[in-house]
Amino acid sequence: MITSKTLRLLALGFTLTAAVGFAASAKENWDNHCAQCHAEDGSGSTKMGKKMKLKDYTDAKVQAALKDEELLKATLDGVTEGGKQKMKGYKDALSAAEAKDLVAFIRKMKK
Ligand code: HEC
Repeated sequence: MITSKTLRLLALGFTLTAAVGFAASAKENWDNHCAQCHAEDGSGSTKMGKKMKLKDYTDAKVQAALKDEELLKATLDGVTEGGKQKMKGYKDALSAAEAKDLVAFIRKMKK
């Protein structure tokens, strides 16, 4: 039987799930939007990543050569080289705060 107590517990469960989901959002966004190319660990070692010669974000030297603003701009506006788009921007899919969280997330990939 569904009592009001059951409903309250259910509601609490949803609230907790939402809170945890929010805290995990950079990882979730990475897994949902970025990992298919950049790989889950940021190494770029996916089939697609190798083909596109993606940088290895686990490499300290690669990290040192990149500025936070560059990472943020690439995430929001995409990457274009020689007039050709290499990566689309995620302005529409991510909020500015989510993009910033992703930059922090990328920084933690350094080994
Ligand atoms: C379809 C494949 C693909 C997806 C999906 C993708 N990227 Fe990229 N990304 C690229 C390519 C190609 C480049 C350009 C080569 C490079 O810099 O390694 C790039 C470059 C970047 C750079 C620029 C690094 C620099 O050199 O300035 C950042 C930061 C980045 N991606 C972050 C992300 C984030 C964050 C996501 C998800 C929101 C994402 N990428 C999703 C393919 C992808």
